[in-house]
Amino acid sequence: MIFSVSGRAAAAVGVSVVMLLTGGSIAGAAPSPTAAAAPDISVANVRAHLAQLQSIAGANGGNRAHGSAGYQASLDYVKAKLDAAGFTTTVQQFTASGRTGYNLLADWPGGDADQVVMAGSHLDSVSRGPGINDNGSGSAAVLETALAVSRTGYHPTKHLRFAWWGAEELGIVGSGHYVDSLSAANRSKISGYLNFDMIGSPNPGYFVYDDDPAIEKTFKDYFTGLGIATEPETEGDGRSDHAPFKDAGVPVGGLFSGADYIKTAAQAAKWGGTSGKAFDACYHSSCDTASNIDNTALDHNSDALAHAVWELSK
Ligand code: TRP
Ligand code: CA
Ligand code: ZN
Repeated sequence: MIFSVSGRAAAAVGVSVVMLLTGGSIAGAAPSPTAAAAPDISVANVRAHLAQLQSIAGANGGNRAHGSAGYQASLDYVKAKLDAAGFTTTVQQFTASGRTGYNLLADWPGGDADQVVMAGSHLDSVSRGPGINDNGSGSAAVLETALAVSRTGYHPTKHLRFAWWGAEELGIVGSGHYVDSLSAANRSKISGYLNFDMIGSPNPGYFVYDDDPAIEKTFKDYFTGLGIATEPETEGDGRSDHAPFKDAGVPVGGLFSGADYIKTAAQAAKWGGTSGKAFDACYHSSCDTASNIDNTALDHNSDALAHAVWELSK
């Protein structure tokens, strides 16, 4: 063999070496939910989305905040990618602070409509800056995972829905509106909601939301396999878009690489980086740019995201 195949990719070798070499779809393979493993998400692709969000902010007054042209352009960018990949997209409007806000929902056709697995992130930034770690990082990783679903022709048992929320920074308004707008019957069909808000912090920690045990275990097992220690994220209750789902009784989970809290010496010993410094010193600041990202954390968290989406929907 002229190339080496390791880990999860090895399982696909029997399908077609040519497809692996070309990065092609394995959609033609016999559907076998138990055999389907998540692909390795390309951090270069995730970073390319971040570069686009950075340039969108640059062209629109330096931010992508609720009610701004930068938010609209961010939504247009994500939606165009999803439409081209075969998702059914829906833009949901709401009002926050006197301005129209938008959520973007993307449904992957197929799967059991009574068992919906959702993954989401807020797409708005604060008005102080471009919001690349908070929360371009989660938005780009959720987008790339959705595109990987399409590329690999993944057709899980459960129905997949991806979401990009508006106006999180104004008080979790967009996701709250979405949950409020669901009938009780439709709410009960959501078997889990996975949230990704800040997953590429420059001085990263690896925090797994301490919430639904099955979701938490799915993430923790993935990091254990990488030999990376995690800590439970509990402080986040109520601080991001999983809160309205949790309040409505939906099982929730997610990942977080840290915001304005200070990394301790013990955390630096297990994760590297700098103790005595914030996980993200540019949190909610103008310096939250494309250079305010740790590539390794972004890569691992993106791969963990895809792993959880695959595992929990199969
Ligand atoms: N967008 C969130 C916020 O501004 C970021 C955040 C801070 C967060 N702490 C968190 C997200 C804990 C999840 C968990 O508050
Ligand atoms: Ca990867
Ligand atoms: Zn924020």
